[in-house]
Amino acid sequence: MKKITIKTLADKKQRREKIVSITAYDYTFARILDQGDVDMILVGDSASNVCAGYQTTLPITLDEMIYHSRSVRRGVQRALLLADLPFLSYQASVEQAVLSAGRLMKEAEVEGVKLEGGEIMADTIYRLAHIGIPVMAHIGLTPQAQHQLGGRLVQGKDEKEAKRLKEEAKILEEAGAFALLLELIPTKLAKEITDSINIPTIGIGAGPHCDGQILVCYDLLGMDKDFNPKYLRKYAELHDTISQAVQDYSMDVRKADYPGDSESYTSYSNK
Ligand code: KIV
Repeated sequence: MKKITIKTLADKKQRREKIVSITAYDYTFARILDQGDVDMILVGDSASNVCAGYQTTLPITLDEMIYHSRSVRRGVQRALLLADLPFLSYQASVEQAVLSAGRLMKEAEVEGVKLEGGEIMADTIYRLAHIGIPVMAHIGLTPQAQHQLGGRLVQGKDEKEAKRLKEEAKILEEAGAFALLLELIPTKLAKEITDSINIPTIGIGAGPHCDGQILVCYDLLGMDKDFNPKYLRKYAELHDTISQAVQDYSMDVRKADYPGDSESYTSYSNK
């Protein structure tokens, strides 16, 4: 087993090998995903949506991210493991970011963090990277700013916005980010950014030219029938599989078919 590091990802970009990333939130899923040969696992603050049922990523706390990250950590041996810095755990000051990222590294033993934002985050990324905390930056649609952006909308659709995102990508690379996540931006813009920087770009809703792709594990497994954004390809329909399994189980219990003899401890010694 060859451990994936940020250097492995940089080498993959040089060799034009695609990087495979996925989110995870618990031990059981993390183990399956890690054994499935992915390069990078992100404990996303999308846990706020898919695990806790909130409408946005804003409510999840740093303590909750640490809990999810510790659970995932125990299931991951090979992939590079990152965790999201949640809303308001890093925006207040560089010092706050250092302390929050430091807690994720010390208490959950993640190997790096992701944070959202462009130029405004350059000083923070510089400081984290230079004290040994790898940072993946995140631009385009930044869900923690969704109220400011007017919703979960495609970003960089006009010349001015596209130019700004290209400039920010360079600034974040120069600040020391080891990778850049591009969310919901046009394919052409994602390609231009990918071609213009030396760090890997990881896309979600950003077309095929990024150096790698990331999806929320529950989305690609088809756990939510109502979540169908254009960019999503579902590789399974687990909602249907799980719901059928639960119905079958209910029926078997109700007609006393489960447990059967082979599923029961039928003999005992009364000596
Ligand atoms: O939290 C998350 O799931 C993310 C996605 C963009 C991968 O940041």
